[in-house]
Amino acid sequence: MIAIKPITLLDAFVFKAVRLRALQEAPHAFGSTYAKELQFADSEWLARIERMNGESGAGFLAMDGETACGIAGSFLDENDSTRAQLISMWTAPTHRERGIGRLLINEILNWAHLRNARTLLLMVTSNNAPGMRFYERLGFTRTGRTEPYPNDPAVVEYEMSRPISK
Ligand SMILES: CC(C)(COP(=O)(O)OP(=O)(O)OC[C@H]1O[C@@H](n2cnc3c(N)ncnc32)[C@H](O)[C@@H]1OP(=O)(O)O)[C@@H](O)C(=O)NCCC(=O)NCCS
Repeated sequence: MIAIKPITLLDAFVFKAVRLRALQEAPHAFGSTYAKELQFADSEWLARIERMNGESGAGFLAMDGETACGIAGSFLDENDSTRAQLISMWTAPTHRERGIGRLLINEILNWAHLRNARTLLLMVTSNNAPGMRFYERLGFTRTGRTEPYPNDPAVVEYEMSRPISK
């Protein structure tokens, strides 16, 4: 059975391992890179978890027993806390298309709703068609805003959003 749990300082080692695995497995999907985050000191990993304190940020792990098989995070916009950003979305290839991504996003939606956010936003790369289809299934649509993708000038990032309702 899959359980979703908030990331806390006790999970620092698991969080680091899952995040690095995600960056290695799906390098096209994230703004950051494996090479960059591999260099992070332990203090940086701990600081990241501290920012996921449940107030302005949150992070969740999907656990299959003792094995972490998914991750997602969110932050409220500094200038507009009605807007929450979804980040770091990843399900392990061994566990895909079993509803884990949906469970993680539902957890983020619940968290953001409790913090009075009204819109959940994300950036997805133009070469990530499966990712876009996944988000569309979960009610996200393209906003029309794009940004350059820092890791590849041939790729852009599309913004997608969905309302947060009860
Ligand atoms: C995208 C990703 C997070 C989906 O996770 P998942 O756990 O497999 O997703 P779920 O099983 O919860 O799927 C939820 C819905 O999306 C659909 N879906 C999932 N992956 C899909 C795909 N590749 N193509 C089309 N639809 C897909 C499912 O069929 C399901 O639809 P339904 O519930 O209406 O039947 C996962 O494939 C992944 O980690 N990819 C690599 C990293 C990535 O691209 N992250 C996003 C970065 S912006």
